[in-house]
Amino acid sequence: QQSTTPVRADGFQEVGTVAELDKNGQILNEKLAAGKVLVIRDPKDTSKLAALNPTCTHRGCTVSWNQDQSSFVCPCHGSKFNSDGKVVNGPADKPLPTYTAKLEGDTVLVKA
Ligand code: FES
Repeated sequence: QQSTTPVRADGFQEVGTVAELDKNGQILNEKLAAGKVLVIRDPKDTSKLAALNPTCTHRGCTVSWNQDQSSFVCPCHGSKFNSDGKVVNGPADKPLPTYTAKLEGDTVLVKA
């Protein structure tokens, strides 16, 4: 049985560490009460984070961040989304839901 990440009093949940984020370029956490979340450094300002639900709005595959294309790319039918979750290329036609994310020391936190 999968345990879920506890939600703090301020509504944020720990999803990973800065070291993990910078090593992999993204953090995927599937244990939030809200479901899956994917966190990256915001390409427009890398001191900030961008977080969203990586469940593709086409058929539900899990997208991942592609640094070279500066996009979230879906492995199933090639939909692309920008760092704000907006559709760049279909077949998906709805954006990915975004969440608030922040750093606290070495910890990556998401409010989902
Ligand atoms: Fe993502 Fe089809 S499920 S493009």
